[in-house]
Amino acid sequence: MIILGLETSCDETSAAVVVDGRRVLSNVIHSQLVHRRFGGVVPELAGREHIRRIVPIMNEALGAAGKTLADIDGFAATFGPGLVGALLVGLSFAKALAYSTGRPFYAVNHLEGHIAANLLAHEELGEEFLTLLVSGGHTMLVGVNGFGNYTVMGRSLDDASGEAFDKVAKILGLGYPGGAAIDDLAKTGNPAYIRFPRALPDPARIDFSFSGLKTAVALYVKNHPPEEIQHHLADIAASFQEAAVDALCDKTVIALRRTGLSVLALSGGVAANSRLRAKLQAACDHLGVRLVYPPSELCTDNAAMIAAAGAIHLLRGEQSPFDINAIPYQKLI
Ligand SMILES: Nc1ncnc2c1ncn2[C@@H]1O[C@H](COP(=O)(O)OP(=O)(O)OP(=O)(O)O)[C@@H](O)[C@H]1O
Ligand SMILES: [Mg+2]
Repeated sequence: MIILGLETSCDETSAAVVVDGRRVLSNVIHSQLVHRRFGGVVPELAGREHIRRIVPIMNEALGAAGKTLADIDGFAATFGPGLVGALLVGLSFAKALAYSTGRPFYAVNHLEGHIAANLLAHEELGEEFLTLLVSGGHTMLVGVNGFGNYTVMGRSLDDASGEAFDKVAKILGLGYPGGAAIDDLAKTGNPAYIRFPRALPDPARIDFSFSGLKTAVALYVKNHPPEEIQHHLADIAASFQEAAVDALCDKTVIALRRTGLSVLALSGGVAANSRLRAKLQAACDHLGVRLVYPPSELCTDNAAMIAAAGAIHLLRGEQSPFDINAIPYQKLI
């Protein structure tokens, strides 16, 4: 089954052609640069940019896959969570394509898309695993017992992990979005330079909290001379990253022990973080758990993961009605 996936939930316009939800023929991702000078995503600009780009991006994805619209067996697009004006572009476009070609359509939950990204990278991956979903808007530990059957074991009580990376990057003058910049800079820094707080140490709790960590970095920067901060920028980045990664690893290990699951799949943009991957690999080796994660370009927003999630449902014979709307605060369950 050949699926055309569309993703427009935030500031990436993306189209992908995926076979049977497992094999990527093409995955074109256009990251909107228009927001950079504002230090964050401007919703109206995102929507307008998606409208401008969606047709050429889809044509590029079809061309790169060597397919035409006539070859597509079904269409999938994100319906939430995300920015409503941005979501509506991809969702309406996918509905129109499905209606005009007479092919089925499935509206995908963006978070299920992030989880499904692992199917594209690991063909043999089964449907039972623990996933650490760490993105710009979410931080959750989710038990997967077959796609569509999820148990949320814990989540962030305040900021998402990716949001903390982005806000700290902004405080350190590293630009937006700054997760990858912190990851790079931290490679040359000392992670033990400052001990920033690790929230919620109680092992009985699997929740996360990152707003105190972000404030601790902001206060540290405010209370030290700018020259000292500049001189130790890599050390501060590494110390922040260590605190964030420690919190994610500790709670993940507790969830693995509690569930007895033997596979851990990372998903979402922060799953690209090299320190998170390394620390979780060491923890998983110790526990005898298999760790998997998608390549970096499938961790952050992309349409291939939306096509993969859509394919799971379309292959089961499920379809979405054409009157389904965009839902900005849609939850995973
Ligand atoms: N190497 C990295 N280390 C840490 N964070 C990273 C890295 N690469 C990307 N990120 C972060 O990932 C986030 C983007 O991920 P993603 O695209 O999954 O989020 P989103 O789509 O904005 O949010 P959501 O999926 O929750 O709606 C940003 O916060 C970015 O800083
Ligand atoms: Mg996302």
